[in-house]
Amino acid sequence: MILHRWFAALAVLVSSAAVFASGDAARGAQAFRACAGCHSLAPGDHRTGPSLAGVFGRRAGTADGFRRYSEALRKSGVVWDAQTLDAWLRKPEAVVPGTTMAFRGLPEANLRADLIAYLQAVSGGKIAAPKMPGLPDLRAAGAGDRVSAITHCGDTYRVTLGDGTQHAFWEFNLRFKTDSSAHGPRRGQPVIVGAGMGGDRAQVVFAEPAEISAFIRNHCE
Ligand code: HEC
Repeated sequence: MILHRWFAALAVLVSSAAVFASGDAARGAQAFRACAGCHSLAPGDHRTGPSLAGVFGRRAGTADGFRRYSEALRKSGVVWDAQTLDAWLRKPEAVVPGTTMAFRGLPEANLRADLIAYLQAVSGGKIAAPKMPGLPDLRAAGAGDRVSAITHCGDTYRVTLGDGTQHAFWEFNLRFKTDSSAHGPRRGQPVIVGAGMGGDRAQVVFAEPAEISAFIRNHCE
């Protein structure tokens, strides 16, 4: 009887291993496009979600330096392997209720198997982590993208750029952001990022939050 159960358990193990082994890492690399908007596979490259470098075999919620884990994921006790990843990718919310990964899930079992084969191959160093589309290097911005002054008057911001041009924005159309990473702007040298300067909306990116109000002068022409 005990032996019988043992064989049954072994049979389940073997058959599920076979299912996962059937994943095709090359197809998985294509499927990873669904993840690449939020995840990089390069170590330490955290974006909306944590870097997935070395995710295989790791406890959930423990990627070094990622500060935005939900409490739900941190406390889940999940360890990432073929089975937990399969369930997660099918429906994240079902595995960790309260997770902040805004992803509905992949209903197709084959696609999940491919993705898992790919994640395992990258984690094990069998496939190199792909180069992700880089974030813009604001440190290298030219004069035409560097902001030299911002004034606010009524409902209008006037932004003067390093090339001397001045651009007026309705205050609701100008956003202020920070980028503290290595490709963020230098201190005191905010950079404008927008849909071309003909656009009516833009974003000014600063090195840190304290710079924002210090930089903007109340002034009417
Ligand atoms: C819209 C952004 C987004 C998309 C798309 C997305 N993820 Fe995530 N992912 C996140 C966030 C945010 C977290 C952290 C969730 C939390 O803390 O609850 C996360 C967490 C994870 C984790 C747990 C990592 C850890 O360190 O414990 C894995 C594994 C994962 N995602 C895999 C994937 C895969 C594979 C895909 C593509 C099929 C994908 N994700 C698509 C945002 C995303």
